[in-house]
Amino acid sequence: MDIVENVKKEVIEMTGYSCEQDILCGVRMPKDVNTLSELEQKHLPVISAPEKVKRNEAFEVTIEVGKLKTHPNEPGHFIEWVELYSKDTFLFRMSLSGSLSQPKVTIPIKLTHAHGPLKAWAKCNLHGLWEGIKDIEVESYAILEE
Ligand SMILES: [Fe+2]
Repeated sequence: MDIVENVKKEVIEMTGYSCEQDILCGVRMPKDVNTLSELEQKHLPVISAPEKVKRNEAFEVTIEVGKLKTHPNEPGHFIEWVELYSKDTFLFRMSLSGSLSQPKVTIPIKLTHAHGPLKAWAKCNLHGLWEGIKDIEVESYAILEE
């Protein structure tokens, strides 16, 4: 066991508390996309976008939380916000009111190059931060021969 693991173990022993026990710590990602738990189905932000797009050409991305299983949308339990990244490059953020707005958005995006997969984060006020991923390919310009 390395030093970091030892410190973690000591903190848990001293406080009786760890990130693994707190749903509000870190980012939640499904353990297995083929066997999602009910909690994962309700919170996973599902990204819909083309498999391949043209460089510098706008395309639509839809993000929906609760697509797989409806998430509560009431003042005491709701999705607070949704963000979209191309890997770690920020693309947009949407804030939600809870009960008056639904956690679904479609927005035009334009990529200059492939940063990596599209990554959506959704924040539930009770169940923390959740991540959804979708691969996307950005076609580069054809190389012109002289
Ligand atoms: Fe929730």
